Amino acid sequence: MIIVIIGAQWGDEGKGKVVDLLADRFDIVARYQGGHNAGHSVYVGDRAFVLRLLPSGIIHPDKTCVLGNGMVIDPKAFFEEVDQIKAQGVEVTPDRLKVSSRAHLIMPYHQALDHTSEERLGNEKIGTTLRGIGPAYEDKVGRRGIRVSDALSPELLRLRIERNLEEANRIIVLFGQQPLRADDIYNETAPLVERLRPFVTETSHFLAQARKANKRILLEGAQATLLDVDHGTYPYVTSSNPTAGGASVGAGIPPHHISGVLGIVRTYATRVGEGPFPTEMLDDEEPIAYLIRERGNEYGSVTRRPRRCGWFDAVATRYAAELNGFDSIALTKLDVLDELEEIKVCTGYKIGDAYVDTFPAVANDLRSIQPVYETLEGWGESTVGITNVEDLPAKARNYVRFLSDSIGVEIGLISTGPERGQTIILKDSVMENWFRG
Ligand code: IMP
Repeated sequence: MIIVIIGAQWGDEGKGKVVDLLADRFDIVARYQGGHNAGHSVYVGDRAFVLRLLPSGIIHPDKTCVLGNGMVIDPKAFFEEVDQIKAQGVEVTPDRLKVSSRAHLIMPYHQALDHTSEERLGNEKIGTTLRGIGPAYEDKVGRRGIRVSDALSPELLRLRIERNLEEANRIIVLFGQQPLRADDIYNETAPLVERLRPFVTETSHFLAQARKANKRILLEGAQATLLDVDHGTYPYVTSSNPTAGGASVGAGIPPHHISGVLGIVRTYATRVGEGPFPTEMLDDEEPIAYLIRERGNEYGSVTRRPRRCGWFDAVATRYAAELNGFDSIALTKLDVLDELEEIKVCTGYKIGDAYVDTFPAVANDLRSIQPVYETLEGWGESTVGITNVEDLPAKARNYVRFLSDSIGVEIGLISTGPERGQTIILKDSVMENWFRG
């Protein structure tokens, strides 16, 4: 069985917890796009793990984790994370962590270029994580990137660094920064690549063999649907394809071998960085945004940037469900809304006088959207830690049902707190079947 797990909104939907829960029932957890721009927080008892590059399955000692060919990997960040997780008592060996030989490396000049590109854009900047993700993917598509397998040859690594740096330095200098030195980059990167060598694997072959041996594989998307370079709010997107189709390409798995797609949806929406956000709470709703931000800890787990908060957007989530083909949805952070008297849900958009119920392609259209809301009554009591759907207040159940109906997909899991146990799994759902193993 191969299941893909994807955020339906702009990221930070709480994938970390759901992957961690599901990982128990799977043998392998693989990532297929992005790099250390992601940030998943996973809480186990009183221990908190923040994962950027490594799949959330790494915390389970008996799982194998894969960094797929579609990823961009900063070797320094990789080992910082490996060392951090080891210091927290998790064993990380090449036996249980495989890095694709076809993944691309993020080099120091990619980070410098991420800075200059944002600077150049000024008010129009994307608000990237400045980790060098976009420039590394630009080099990949421009057919000058450095793949892990290239880097394993010291001569090729040096040659590629020298050639690519010549071009990168032109831009870096144009922006008044000091040029980077090829020797410095090589001397920093070569030992890291040597340390990476035992982890390097033909991961698509490894995954194909695992599938044939009836292993259960979880493909973990990073970022989310509305940050997808093709389907998101372009140009305010990341440079990869988190959507379900991207999982096939980025892990090297035939599409028809994927058995199901799980969407992660939060009971409200957030976004970090710039870009359109139709249901954002502004001005007079800022006190509600504040409450949500504090209760939901809506601060970037890597950058600690406060997240922009907004109401649930059924138009955007339906779009995500359609694009990814969600079979089931995990609804996270229900408890964060416990104190609200009223909860708004955006069920359609108005652009000028026209009513639209589809997600427009043009960022400017999204900016001029007037969301059409339905208002539901809040439940005004704690749902923290509830594990049985019957124990939820009737109005909370009503809210969940309303969301499920407006997306048109079952909600199979409801999260009522950050810990593993604070979870409801709905009987007779597709999700329950995945959990049953
Ligand atoms: P980049 O991926 O660093 O190029 O950033 C592009 C956009 O994606 C920015 O708006 C980032 O804030 C956003 N982004 C990247 N990674 C994540 C994530 O893991 N969660 C939420 N937003 C993200």
